[in-house]
Amino acid sequence: MASVTFEHVKKVYDNKVEVVHDFNLEIKDKEFIVFVGPSGCAKSTTMRMVAGLEDITDGIIKINDRVVNDVEPKDRDIAMVFQNYALYPHITVYENLAFSLRLRKMKNEEVHKKVCEAAEILGITEYLGRKPKALSGGQRQRVAIGRAIVRDPQVFLMDEPLSNLDAKLRNQMRSEIILLRKRVNTTFIYVTHDQTEAMTLGDRIVVMKDGWIMQVGTPQEVFDTPHNLFVAGFIGSPQMNFLKAKLEKEGSTYSVSLLGVKIPLNADQNDALAKKGIGSQDITLGVRPEHTTALFDNQSNSIECTILVNEMMGSELHLHLKTKNDDNIILRLPTIDLTKEQRAQLTYGNKMYITFQAKVMHLFDPKTEKNLIYG
Ligand SMILES: Nc1ncnc2c1ncn2[C@@H]1O[C@H](COP(=O)(O)OP(=O)(O)O)[C@@H](O)[C@H]1O
Ligand SMILES: [Mg+2]
Repeated sequence: MASVTFEHVKKVYDNKVEVVHDFNLEIKDKEFIVFVGPSGCAKSTTMRMVAGLEDITDGIIKINDRVVNDVEPKDRDIAMVFQNYALYPHITVYENLAFSLRLRKMKNEEVHKKVCEAAEILGITEYLGRKPKALSGGQRQRVAIGRAIVRDPQVFLMDEPLSNLDAKLRNQMRSEIILLRKRVNTTFIYVTHDQTEAMTLGDRIVVMKDGWIMQVGTPQEVFDTPHNLFVAGFIGSPQMNFLKAKLEKEGSTYSVSLLGVKIPLNADQNDALAKKGIGSQDITLGVRPEHTTALFDNQSNSIECTILVNEMMGSELHLHLKTKNDDNIILRLPTIDLTKEQRAQLTYGNKMYITFQAKVMHLFDPKTEKNLIYG
């Protein structure tokens, strides 16, 4: 049982630079939380403060109701897995797993039981007699995770544990971590710069930038209702398209105008904007590549574009388009329903038309970069 709470936590390193600013977060017992953001946004620093590997400059961190600011790392009942597995090279996998238990003077039978259990969970039983150098990268990473599991920690911390693995193994280990989580059933804090990992693993994800929390929410919430331009651009691949547009209010209804077309908003959007007292204004319109509607001929309310690049991904195409105003737009188009004629049309320099449904449009204030409805 362990919740982890951050209250107004700050971190200033010796060079006087503040890298974590007023960090507030409540992680619930048994929750899987992911810190995600670009390199340097202070994910590791924040996690290391939970582990006790970095001092907390200001504010408090609690594990359950206990303030741990001044508690030694070994007394915090947490286990951490790093990107570089840091196994002891000269002893067997078995002894690597047993190491921390022997330090705790645990009885041999109990050590044996725990090591075998962990090995079984991770599928490394047959390698227990080997030394780390006789293992593949993925197997070594499993041993590193096993070393954390045997300790039955209250909180499991993982800092980019899959970053050193190749793409295929990374995908496989990602689903193994989902299974592992079900079997270990404890509180996890997981750090990654990879938005796919964050989306697939997290119960909730904490999107960070420059030591600030940009948004906390379930993967679906963060994807559906990004609170600001940063989150909108960071979550989702390829990245959301951003276009200059105008929000126009006429009576009690709103529409979005861009590139000579005018798209009425839906009832929910109208209500939300009206409630916030928003009038006509310039906006940055955000639409995801998979939500952009492709048209093969010019229809009413369609935007003319020119095809720049057609990337064939197998099940879909990524079309890179340019508007008359030189905006770049990426479109994801499933290939399965395309006719031969349509495929032939999708080449460099040809015209393509696009439009947007109201419900896929995200409206941002260009100055504050906040979502007009959810920000
Ligand atoms: N020991 C340190 N001394 C000074 N600055 C540091 C130290 N460790 C990290 N930083 C700085 O703190 C910021 C956050 O780093 P880090 O937590 O490692 O980010 P992330 O894990 O998100 O890539 C970076 O600007 C980094 O340069
Ligand atoms: Mg890091």
